[in-house]
Amino acid sequence: MSATTNHATPAAAAGTLDVERVRRDFPILRETVHGKPLVYLDNAASAQKPRAVIEAEAAVYESYYSNIHRGVHSLSMRSTDAYEAARETVRRFIGAAHGREVVFTRGTTESINLVASSYGRGHVGKGDEVLITGLEHHSNIVPWQMLCEEKGARLRVAPLDDRGDVILDAMEGLIGPRTKLVAVAHVSNALGTVNPVKRMVEMAHAKGVPVLIDGAQAAPHLKVDVRELDCDFYAFSSHKVYGPSGVGVLYGKAAHLQAMPPYQGGGDMILSVTFEKTTYNELPYKFEAGTPNIAGVIGLGAAIDWVEGIGRGAIATHETDLLEYGTRQLVEVPGLRLIGTAREKAGVLSFVLEGVHPHDIGTVLDYEGIAVRTGHHCAQPVMDRYCVPATACASLAVYNTREEIDALVRALHKVREVFL
Ligand SMILES: Cc1ncc(COP(=O)(O)O)c(C=O)c1O
Repeated sequence: MSATTNHATPAAAAGTLDVERVRRDFPILRETVHGKPLVYLDNAASAQKPRAVIEAEAAVYESYYSNIHRGVHSLSMRSTDAYEAARETVRRFIGAAHGREVVFTRGTTESINLVASSYGRGHVGKGDEVLITGLEHHSNIVPWQMLCEEKGARLRVAPLDDRGDVILDAMEGLIGPRTKLVAVAHVSNALGTVNPVKRMVEMAHAKGVPVLIDGAQAAPHLKVDVRELDCDFYAFSSHKVYGPSGVGVLYGKAAHLQAMPPYQGGGDMILSVTFEKTTYNELPYKFEAGTPNIAGVIGLGAAIDWVEGIGRGAIATHETDLLEYGTRQLVEVPGLRLIGTAREKAGVLSFVLEGVHPHDIGTVLDYEGIAVRTGHHCAQPVMDRYCVPATACASLAVYNTREEIDALVRALHKVREVFL
């Protein structure tokens, strides 16, 4: 994880963080479930929202909501300014060179589909190949599979070792003259593996192949700098980075986006329309057809401001401590096997408990007020690779504590008492 510290606040001095202070920003963390204090460990699926985000979205609707980009009245101009300010915040957050390289979408899934549909259809033909890895989320498998089916192309998959690391030599060997795109997760939601994406980009670029990075699980935890990574596309979702759901980001290098056809047609993505011909709007609006999630985008801007206020370095340090602590505690639970022990990991603790189905684990934990995700985590090939039908997954966020890990471990002992 990155150890860079941004703007320090009283909650984050010298790279450390006052977790009780952070928790006070999240109204939902005061809730109880089945009479027990909520322990929310389902952050890889979606993170909770700080008051700053809730209030930013409410303020849009309470005081200046209007449609954007096409009004001369004051509310429209205020909404447009706030929406575009959020684009600038995202640009800074991911280190993009220009706001026109930042496209707002509905989420990572839509961002990847946009690239598969617009870039993919133009560059992938019969007999060509798209390369992914064995740890991808379905969102970074299925769009490429659909493209390959349509074009008569082939989806290739870089294999994983037993710990959950991509075997880099094998991956390099799979990048050949027919490879038209490499699409890879920055961080795996099912295993926690942090992929060496910079190295992967270098490997692909050395053979002239562009790279899309699925950053859904990286943006909340790591410092992301798209220019340093030199990736061609980068996708992430607002709702995992403490922002509203229904909003996502696609970063694309301007040269690619410029050359790509629009993904959807409609209002806002045009300069002029006649029945004979339409000319498309400039970047990034060419890819933002129709009325977007205005308040959601503004909420994402507020979420990023909140994250930067805490400091990404402080967040990473705190989550790394929790991950190490959680790993040590969990492996002491008899019969528990961690799935995913990669050399570099983000805050995902995926596990199976011998003799107990993950859904039963999830149900007992819920009665203890503990929210974890159980199932295949939209990564069925990962389950197949490690020969498990499903796992239970505790995923960490900035507001989690060592005490919550202890509560999880106590509850897992209860699970064993009930089922074994
Ligand atoms: C690695 C990864 N990629 C893509 C996605 C899809 O994100 P969304 O559902 O926000 O589009 C997820 C969601 O869990 C994910 O973890």
